[in-house]
Amino acid sequence: MLNKIIVATMPLVPKSIVHIFAKKYIAGDTLNHAVEDARKIEAEGGMTTIDVLGEFVDNKERAIHETGDSLKVVDAIHEHKLTTYLSLKPTSLGLGINEEFGYENIKSVVEKAQKLNIRVRLDMENSPFTTKTLNLYKRLRDEGFDNVGTVIQSYMRRSEDDIKDLLPYKPNIRLCKGIYKEAPEVAFQEKEEVRDNYKILLRLLMDNNCYTGIATHDDPLIDDAREYLKENNISKDKYEFQVLLGVREPKRRELIKEGHPLRVYVPFGEDWYGYSTRRLKENPDMVGHIVKAIFSRK
Ligand code: FDA
Repeated sequence: MLNKIIVATMPLVPKSIVHIFAKKYIAGDTLNHAVEDARKIEAEGGMTTIDVLGEFVDNKERAIHETGDSLKVVDAIHEHKLTTYLSLKPTSLGLGINEEFGYENIKSVVEKAQKLNIRVRLDMENSPFTTKTLNLYKRLRDEGFDNVGTVIQSYMRRSEDDIKDLLPYKPNIRLCKGIYKEAPEVAFQEKEEVRDNYKILLRLLMDNNCYTGIATHDDPLIDDAREYLKENNISKDKYEFQVLLGVREPKRRELIKEGHPLRVYVPFGEDWYGYSTRRLKENPDMVGHIVKAIFSRK
């Protein structure tokens, strides 16, 4: 309830205050900030994926601009020899405007990345884009782009079928819970249901030899994955843990210390305010973490 009130009054909170909590989760306004963070994380033994902030673009000019920004990230990863890949939101590059237009923009980025031996992951947005994103992924793979991966959300009821459909591609998948607000008809609503499905999907992916990004900060899921990896003697070239920048850093260091491959999602861009407030609106539970983060700030 308190979370909902805080979210409802968000527009009244000055931008400078929002920035206090947002900056922990965002590398900064520019690509240089993201590269700096990527370097620091590599020095700690981790890897990164860089994301240019921005979603739900509704005009072609903006989508072309965003495509250019993603191409610049690919150049920077190459230039700085980072162990980084690019994550992109398909609607930012125009998937919501027109599927063919979005496809061409995304393909131009994936094509350039492939030449430079860099991976690209299609983030998963809300349910109107699930089928479109998976179709985009399959089309890119059919055209020979093996450097592309995508995301499966464990709160979606359809995810088990989606994985089964993707299995012939031996897909590289990031498995997360899902952050958007979805209707009960399409998504599990209870925390335990989402967790149980996560465990089922993790096994479905890994038992079928699919490279899996285990993207969660949730201890029961991290512990379950650790046990599964150990029991099945899974080698380190088959998986990685993934976390968001600024979230549970001690856990991130613990996983690296144990020898697990770990990747940090590093978002940057001028749209930090929109990103932060959207994240809060989509998931009011985050407010609790953010409030905690403000008070634990040294
Ligand atoms: P949960 O939200 O239950 O958090 C578990 C615990 O982690 C909490 O109890 C708390 O201790 C800690 N925690 C979580 N968030 C915190 C915070 N902000 N500050 C401090 N502590 C925090 N979603 C999506 O729909 N599409 C996508 O493409 C992606 N991509 C993606 C990439 C990566 C690398 C990650 C880690 C996550 C995503 N997500 C995503 C988001 C994901 O779907 C999910 O919403 C969040 O990761 C939160 O879920 P958890 O599994 O961490 O559990």
